[in-house]
Amino acid sequence: LPKEVFWNAHEICHVEGFWFFAHLMESIAAFRSDFEPRSDDILLTSFPKTGTTWLMALCHNILHRHDDREEEEDDVLTTVNLHEVVPTLDVFFLHDQVQDLVLNSNRSTGGRLLHTHLPYTCLPEAVRNSGCKIVHVTRNPKDTMVSMWHFYNKIFDVFPMEGAVESFCNGVLPWGPFHEHVIGYWEESKRRPDEVLFLTYEDLCRDPKKEVRKLASFLGKPFSPAGNGCEDEEVEKVLWLSSLGRLKELEVNKNVVSELTQIPNSSFFRKGTVGDWKNYLTPQMAERIDQLTQLKLQGIELSLDDF
Ligand code: A3P
Repeated sequence: LPKEVFWNAHEICHVEGFWFFAHLMESIAAFRSDFEPRSDDILLTSFPKTGTTWLMALCHNILHRHDDREEEEDDVLTTVNLHEVVPTLDVFFLHDQVQDLVLNSNRSTGGRLLHTHLPYTCLPEAVRNSGCKIVHVTRNPKDTMVSMWHFYNKIFDVFPMEGAVESFCNGVLPWGPFHEHVIGYWEESKRRPDEVLFLTYEDLCRDPKKEVRKLASFLGKPFSPAGNGCEDEEVEKVLWLSSLGRLKELEVNKNVVSELTQIPNSSFFRKGTVGDWKNYLTPQMAERIDQLTQLKLQGIELSLDDF
């Protein structure tokens, strides 16, 4: 397989048009060949740093909102990090904890909520043919890039922004290239709108209630129509339970290192704003990413702008 070095020393491999961490190839291959989807599974998909954790929280809270949760402590998210509740199958497929969850999750509680960073064309064929629901979230490329820089600087060694922009624009980064990754899901959502929902981080920030209603309807758990004050309360509760402010403050999401991910749970929560790239990218870097985005999205009816 063609190989490159990402950040300072992390080997990545080129497979079917995309780059993946070399150390994950075994897990990716096992997920692609051995995973047995069920038609009632819900598969969340995302390029890293585009709002994965938020989408996991929203879906979890939408699907479990009628459970008997009298006390806040009854909510599993107060004691378990989201990335353990909704496992990323391409990364952790071979981990016992994930095998357990995937194999033994109880059908009576409804479909399994799962996640992958794989691009659409690399999903297990069985998933693409299963009819299971797919929810994709994406984000404007400059904020994605800056969020990625913070994340990898925290969990790897510190790396200059120039090099990170270079990788991002060349597409030589884990799960990259970014634009092709997004376009794959965008096109599938146009082809199969009842089975593939495409959301953006920016829309979720701009009109969270509208997007959460759309998401709940897609998942088959619609809220009652807007207008009735009491139903709006339910939407607001889901948004609050899933909010960055709340999740970040839970003890479990502070400096606890997850046995599954092997990184501090806090790494998944930072600032959560739109346009933070302005604080980190030079005008030249921003221009380079914008031009690339314009080029890649030519002829495609998709906008990846921030507000
Ligand atoms: P920033 O680095 O811009 O703050 P992912 O979950 O795909 O790894 O994406 C991480 C980004 O989403 C980070 O963005 C993080 O702060 C933000 N995020 C995490 N949880 C969130 C939540 N519940 N609501 C909104 N944003 C969230």
